[in-house]
Amino acid sequence: MTLDEKVGQLVQRAGGRSKSLNSRLDDAELERVRAGTVGSYLHVAGAEPLARLQKVAVEESRLGIPLLFAMDVVHGYRTIFPVPLAMAATWAPEAEEHAARIAAEEATSAGLHWTFAPMIDIARDPRWGRIVEGAGEDPYLGARMAVAQVNGFQGGNSLRPGSLMATAKHFGAYGAAIGGRDYNTADLSERTLQEVYLPPFYAASRAGAGSFMAAFNDIAGVPTTANRELLRGTLRERWGWQGLLVSDWGAIGELLNHGVTEDRKGAALLALDASVDMDMIGGVYADDLKDAIAKDPARLKLLDEAVLRILRVKEQLGLFDKPLAYNDVEREARELLSPEHREAARAIARQSIVLLKNNGLLPLDPTKLKSIAVIGALTTDGMSSLGSWRAQGKAEDVVTVLKGITAAVPKLKITSAPGADPRNTETSGIAAAVKLARAADVTILMVGEDYDLSGEARSRSTLELPPSQLELARQVLATGKPVVILLANGRPLALTELSEKAPAILETWMLGIESGDAIADVLFGKYSPAGRLPAAFPRTSAAVPFNYSANATGRPADPDLSKDTVRYHDLPITPLYPFGHGLSYTEFRYSELAQSTQSVGPDERIDISITVENAGSVSSDEVVQLYVRDPVASIARPVLELRGFKRVEIGAGQKKRVTFSLTPEQFAFWSARGQWLVEAGRIDFWIGASSADLRAKGSFEISKTHLGTAPAAALPTRVTVSNN
Ligand code: BGC
Repeated sequence: MTLDEKVGQLVQRAGGRSKSLNSRLDDAELERVRAGTVGSYLHVAGAEPLARLQKVAVEESRLGIPLLFAMDVVHGYRTIFPVPLAMAATWAPEAEEHAARIAAEEATSAGLHWTFAPMIDIARDPRWGRIVEGAGEDPYLGARMAVAQVNGFQGGNSLRPGSLMATAKHFGAYGAAIGGRDYNTADLSERTLQEVYLPPFYAASRAGAGSFMAAFNDIAGVPTTANRELLRGTLRERWGWQGLLVSDWGAIGELLNHGVTEDRKGAALLALDASVDMDMIGGVYADDLKDAIAKDPARLKLLDEAVLRILRVKEQLGLFDKPLAYNDVEREARELLSPEHREAARAIARQSIVLLKNNGLLPLDPTKLKSIAVIGALTTDGMSSLGSWRAQGKAEDVVTVLKGITAAVPKLKITSAPGADPRNTETSGIAAAVKLARAADVTILMVGEDYDLSGEARSRSTLELPPSQLELARQVLATGKPVVILLANGRPLALTELSEKAPAILETWMLGIESGDAIADVLFGKYSPAGRLPAAFPRTSAAVPFNYSANATGRPADPDLSKDTVRYHDLPITPLYPFGHGLSYTEFRYSELAQSTQSVGPDERIDISITVENAGSVSSDEVVQLYVRDPVASIARPVLELRGFKRVEIGAGQKKRVTFSLTPEQFAFWSARGQWLVEAGRIDFWIGASSADLRAKGSFEISKTHLGTAPAAALPTRVTVSNN
């Protein structure tokens, strides 16, 4: 390969904008492909147009190297599933894997080889708009969802012909942006980085994610795109990951804005040194890498390594053998939006719904109702059901809330009105909505954020409902009639007033194309809700960040205001809805806690079992949660850490026995010497229904101090379920 051809492999160009795919693929672009100066395109799609482009690469360029086609296929390609935060609320990695598999089936039939997903950034500040794209605040839950998505996209634990290559992004602490302002500096301790932010990435690397993306932001002054220690050191050398590392959009050029280099040549070298293989649209490698290397030939070796890594994934995907294997037009027509895919979207949407509050109003019994008022602009807003990142999703594919309810109860009189729109402060429509609410037996009121209020560059300073939405809710609730609140949102919200006034609240996020059907299934009791919050809901915006898994302090928070403890004086010490919270249409009882041993040594396991009984009259899922604490260690440890969970379906009156099996390595922490250390001593554990609803407690000993090998939260707890 000539130097130009090598550099060409590192260049990723945009085939369009995210909303106008393929629009830039003109003659000049084809000329670049012929010249071998492009390695990959993003924002492209379609079996047929991409076959044409690929043919130019393999038939008309000197070396015939195939192109890689990429897109942000985040929660579906054409069949759009719930936003990732909502799918994390399923606490069912198998559901998340299934959604990713379907997204991959559709995307790979449409010419795509590579998705920029999953986003596995831990997000502990809900003001950050991109919390919607991830699995929330917890590294253990985050790691499970990361692995599920990598497996789903790639179709197994390694890249193979036909895989949709997954991208673990945005490595390593993008979610820690100070103040939740997108792109902002992260400034965190090495321990927090290792224990909280990196575990999902470690898990994704072990699951065989073909690609990683470096984050835009800096960690304590080191921009990630130039972070040699993190990228080359931790990811490649210590974790042994050898995949394709791509920059974020234009991020190599942004090293100039960070102020760590004077010119683009310097930026190119910093990124190459850090082992960033591909330059996403920045053109810095394309324009400046060759000259930079000419001045410093020792760098040629680094370039060769980057080229090899890119060629290797092309080979693993089978593109050298069958460059057009992803371009089957008939398969594309069959796959997109197939009835099975829609059915799965509905099932997963139902699983994502969280019942936050219920005074008994839900489920609604249609046989006892004559009329329902469906209120809220979001009940007819298909775009907002799709949420952030829609790939090829279309608003017209969506079963909106109004449509779903109307179809579910065809005999009832349904009236509807927008009331107020979250996009503006206009409240003149509220009066008409209130009138409908007064006249109906029950009102279903959807309030919240529209799709454009969360996502990239959509951080908000407040977590309250948009003003027009809050006003609408106030006035409808003031009628005193039965009102079910449906929340639409891509982040935790501060809902204190609503939670006091509303009889029932369902967290329905942005649930994708089957939103309305899924919501109707839950409203009318066809399905008992069992989603659980993947991030706490605070009482006010000012109470964030708040995290259940905080370190033990010298003065633990105490409700008693006469004591001086870690808390705000003007707020209760708990969040409004804690991590792991979610109610059900039935009631579960926990009993018969047992453990296999009192003491575990290295290479041994402890099994912890509990019986869960559905004591109500409807079948439902329960999410059984295992939390742990290391009460005495050489450094202060979190007061609680999630270390296991299982969503399990239990019929009315039935019991199931759930067993968690753990190793001492899962209790390792990042020691003062920068190693994973398992310390001998007692471990306390609790099994419960949320981080604040712990039902059974036990403890055991770790018998011997020894070194761990991996981030503890990345390691999976084995869970088995048996009939009892
Ligand atoms: C985002 C990435 C995304 C890329 C390509 C960037 O702005 O940060 O998450 O993959 O654009 O669309």
